[in-house]
Amino acid sequence: MDNEYILKMAGISKAFPGVKALNKVDFNLKKGEVHAVVGENGAGKSTLSKILTGAYKKDEGSIILDGKEVELLDPKHSLNLGISGIYQEFNLIPNLSIAENIFLGREPRTRSVFVNFPELYQNAEYFLKKIGIKKKPQTLVGKLNVAEQQMVEIVKSLSLSSKILIMDEPTSALTESEKNTLFEIIRNLKKRGVSIIFISHIIDEVLEIADRVTVLRDGGYIGTLNISEATPDKIVKMMVGRELKNFYPKEKLKRGEIVLEVKHLTKRDKYEDISFQLYSGEVLGFAGLVGSSRSEVMRGIFGIEPPDSGEIYIRGKRVEISSPSEAIRLKMGFVPEDRRGEGLILTRSVKDNITIAYLPWINSYGFVKQKDEEKITANYGDDLKIRATSYRQMVRDLSGGNQQKVVLAKWLATKPKILILDDPTRGIDVGTKSEIYSLINNLIKEGIGIILISSELSEIINISDRIIVMREGITAAEFSKEEANQELIMHYCFSGEMEV
Ligand SMILES: Nc1ncnc2c1ncn2[C@@H]1O[C@H](COP(=O)(O)OP(=O)(O)OP(=O)(O)O)[C@@H](O)[C@H]1O
Ligand SMILES: [Mg+2]
Repeated sequence: MDNEYILKMAGISKAFPGVKALNKVDFNLKKGEVHAVVGENGAGKSTLSKILTGAYKKDEGSIILDGKEVELLDPKHSLNLGISGIYQEFNLIPNLSIAENIFLGREPRTRSVFVNFPELYQNAEYFLKKIGIKKKPQTLVGKLNVAEQQMVEIVKSLSLSSKILIMDEPTSALTESEKNTLFEIIRNLKKRGVSIIFISHIIDEVLEIADRVTVLRDGGYIGTLNISEATPDKIVKMMVGRELKNFYPKEKLKRGEIVLEVKHLTKRDKYEDISFQLYSGEVLGFAGLVGSSRSEVMRGIFGIEPPDSGEIYIRGKRVEISSPSEAIRLKMGFVPEDRRGEGLILTRSVKDNITIAYLPWINSYGFVKQKDEEKITANYGDDLKIRATSYRQMVRDLSGGNQQKVVLAKWLATKPKILILDDPTRGIDVGTKSEIYSLINNLIKEGIGIILISSELSEIINISDRIIVMREGITAAEFSKEEANQELIMHYCFSGEMEV
């Protein structure tokens, strides 16, 4: 019976200075199963996976791999034992081909030490075909999109004959159809007897792809369910320790005056003739597929990559926004999509990150008060329940979702009148999501105008007062909350022609 399990972890603990990331966690994995791990931000999911990939050492507990107890010493050791991890930040080299990346350091050689390219390409082709990827092995990795790069990582682990594949939030940068491809590959791997650990915040996904799900909370093991007995409510209750009522607390308010108007914004090869108005006290949602240029338009308005032509008015006054600092001065805030790249200084503290955008603003009074900074940090940090040992902790050491909360706090601290949120709840757990929605609700009550881009349709529909659909750089349609539904929006995302 015991050989049904490829992996048994028992009593695993791991502490970092000031925080017990894992406390006597049990986790086991059957051969050929997809086992999801869920839990709130900071629950310990990534830490558990990093112990398996050898990136972190456990403090206590035992790991039994294929019936034998092992000590996982470092990433190379884990790889040799057949454990691969696939993370959001890939380990690929952009100016090498797919094949070279897959077999990096293990290339077939001709007798005279040169790489045997025909054989290299042939081997790569074999693995690419095996999981149904149509790309040529000669293609440079730098030319691939995120989804394709992820697939190269998967192929790489497959070629290493990994028995255990760990995916930490693998769908967070994928479009719907890329996600479906990934799921097909996962099913395919399962058939080959590979066991998969699937970490995700998206419960629907977990129910779709997993065989079992394990819930962690505050570093502790809560339980494991078979998917057949799992429901979203059950999982969420285990995750947050209570039932979540009123998930979308958004109220409808009477909208105020126009706070932002853009006319005919155009940027070559990106977007064309974008015009809309944003009122105070409303949430204006932007729906669209990845690549529809929603983020580009917002980056244009915020002065990161200004448009080629078009006009921007703030409360009726024409403005030129040529840089983000100009936008901040005009009381705009922007929570970017790529939080690690654009939103944060990873090697600085939570406090420094939260107060950094606010600084030009307090500076206009002449000086920055240390006390003010601390108060502001505590204010927003507590509101958003940022999980850190202290607000002096480096942002790099926070869990992914908590990093996202720091970006949000930073922009709230500037007290913007216009706030652009680009996929603000991606990677954020359900409990906190609901808190962010109430926060949005409170902000519009204060008269802020909010633009919301989201990859989750149900979020857009439930939170927005009006919805603009973008497709390939143009505005395809606009709906009021009452008119909008998922089908209608999807229709305009894809084609835009209505059948009557
Ligand atoms: N290198 C580190 N140094 C200090 N603390 C860390 C480190 N890595 C993780 N932690 C802490 O351990 C706890 C668990 O973090 P972990 O990244 O495992 O959470 P998670 O469940 O993956 O969360 P998320 O859903 O936000 O990604 C958090 O409190 C985090 O701040
Ligand atoms: Mg994580």
